[in-house]
Amino acid sequence: MTKSEILTALRESGGYVSGQELCEKLQVSRTAVWKKMKQLQEEGYEIEAVPNRGYRIVACPDIIAAEEVESRLCTRRMGHPVVYYEEVTSTNQVLKKLAEEGAPEGTLVTADAQNQGKGRAGRVWMIQPGANIAMSLLLRPQISPARISMVTLVMGLAVTCACRELYGVDAGIKWPNDVVINGKKICGILTEMSMELMAVNYVVIGTGINVNETEFPEEIRDKATSLQLEMGRKLGRAELMACCMKYFEEFYDQFLSTGDLSLLQEQYNGLLLNRNRGVRVLEPGREYSGVALGINKDGQLLVEKEDGSQTAVYAGEVSVRGVYGYV
Ligand code: BTN
Repeated sequence: MTKSEILTALRESGGYVSGQELCEKLQVSRTAVWKKMKQLQEEGYEIEAVPNRGYRIVACPDIIAAEEVESRLCTRRMGHPVVYYEEVTSTNQVLKKLAEEGAPEGTLVTADAQNQGKGRAGRVWMIQPGANIAMSLLLRPQISPARISMVTLVMGLAVTCACRELYGVDAGIKWPNDVVINGKKICGILTEMSMELMAVNYVVIGTGINVNETEFPEEIRDKATSLQLEMGRKLGRAELMACCMKYFEEFYDQFLSTGDLSLLQEQYNGLLLNRNRGVRVLEPGREYSGVALGINKDGQLLVEKEDGSQTAVYAGEVSVRGVYGYV
């Protein structure tokens, strides 16, 4: 009987579950169940034990250890297994090592703290213990390397949908994959790829979500926020991770079935905050303004330039700014 199985059984019941039921379901003795409950209580879970009724979870600490995340997953591949560390340099870096050693597709590395996290454009992405989500997911797709940047958009869409479903919050996407609430960023994604000849060896999608952070450094205060600051309450990280995996698996399968974003384009464009807004496109050596129209099936941003002509902007090569602010 794993911790994950017992947590799932307690959660599924929604109320009390008797010792007898747990014994039968998990094929273990009453003493074994009692010992596991004690162990969970010691780890900070509030579990009520009432004679003749059974056990009930009253409160869970905001733990993101492997069993806690695994017990909430409803996926077949994504998040299997979860590999948890208290502190890492960067979850992307750790997962790349596991990938080299043969870890399977769907492996999810997560950590409570990240001290040398990597952001886009050489920036850093640090995570203090207990506050936010740092997670990296391993994929081994058999597609051309040129299509990989689309997977980053798929994860951005998954995180946005998870936040909307769980918290009913008006989250949207700043192209290509920042998740934004009330004009400020709550999530960034960094995808790294290993190639051999012209084939993809593996892909690591690293996602950082500001969940319970309440203080941001001065220099990013006007463009970064957290779910807690926007929702006004502390939120559970494991639940959010599991929900992101659910959406990602569904969307990724759709992406693989066509090899592009044709099945997701409409949903993505419906959540795209840049849509019909002025953007400034910063390409190496060239800058221009226009109006963002939405993405095409390859994930490129279609921009109508001031002279009326249309251009498709590739993610990765350029950065897009809002004309009046971050979005
Ligand atoms: C960005 O700059 O917007 C992307 C930030 C990506 C940060 C995440 S946190 C988990 C994973 N591990 C890393 O080192 N980076 C990514």
